[in-house]
Amino acid sequence: MTLIDGKAVAEQIKKEIAEEVSRIVEAGGKRPHLAAILVGHDGGSETYVAAKVKACEVCGFKSSLIRFEDDVTEEELLAKVRELNNDDDVDGFIVQLPLPKHISEDKVIETIDYRKDVDGFHPINVGRMSIGLPCYISATPNGIVELLSRYNIETKGKKCVVLGRSNIVGKPMAALMMRKGYPGDCTVTVCHSRTANIAEECRQADIIIAALGSPEFVKADMVKEGAVIIDVGTTRVPSTKTKSGFKLTGDVKFDEVAPKCSFITPVPGGVGPMTIVSLMKNTLLAGKKEIYK
Ligand code: GUN
Repeated sequence: MTLIDGKAVAEQIKKEIAEEVSRIVEAGGKRPHLAAILVGHDGGSETYVAAKVKACEVCGFKSSLIRFEDDVTEEELLAKVRELNNDDDVDGFIVQLPLPKHISEDKVIETIDYRKDVDGFHPINVGRMSIGLPCYISATPNGIVELLSRYNIETKGKKCVVLGRSNIVGKPMAALMMRKGYPGDCTVTVCHSRTANIAEECRQADIIIAALGSPEFVKADMVKEGAVIIDVGTTRVPSTKTKSGFKLTGDVKFDEVAPKCSFITPVPGGVGPMTIVSLMKNTLLAGKKEIYK
């Protein structure tokens, strides 16, 4: 069994990005600039955005953090999005989700210029991804594909079961695993809360990508010997063993599943660290105007 070390891969990629940024800047090019809009003071969002700003620093990017209180109106927020769309210094930007209930996330996402949508959430990027055109791919699926590729995990002709059908993970993940080329060329089954026999579907899988948000859902008797297991779950489960009082728990019952696997990602330290790196990769592409001129 090989433990997939997302933390180490993420550090390596950030180093590669920083080296490329140095070369760009030394050659007189523009330092990539990522802006992030954060609304309110949600603990999780504060942590994520702080980590994104820190990663920008490590990669040698310029970053801007734009804050609004959670009583900001939808129109005020949309006005800022339009301003960033038109700001030539900003290569890419994100609006951290979730947003307060009185603001339509769909409307905000659709207002972002798809050419600066480094989250890959805009329908144009989602659509282009699903038909295999160059685009920004959203962070988690992009990070998973990168892990599969850095560990040379065979995907061609394999049966891949994706657990979960969210717009951010399950759906794009399924599209990427079935696309032509590597990593891809899988036969993909997407399972969700209404799937008739998830355990049986999982037992058929060469690769399981678990993104249900259901702690320790995948048990040993659902996994074929030699399977590849990618665990996207990050549920905070109360724990007496940690200082914070909770433990980040994946969708896979790691201790009993790991011995059966050829490869498995741990939680934490597997997929998680790769997601921010994916955003950094997209920001570098945006800075280089590599996808959209
Ligand atoms: N909230 C949780 N994950 C994400 C993400 O990848 N991007 C944004 N903008 N918000 C999030």
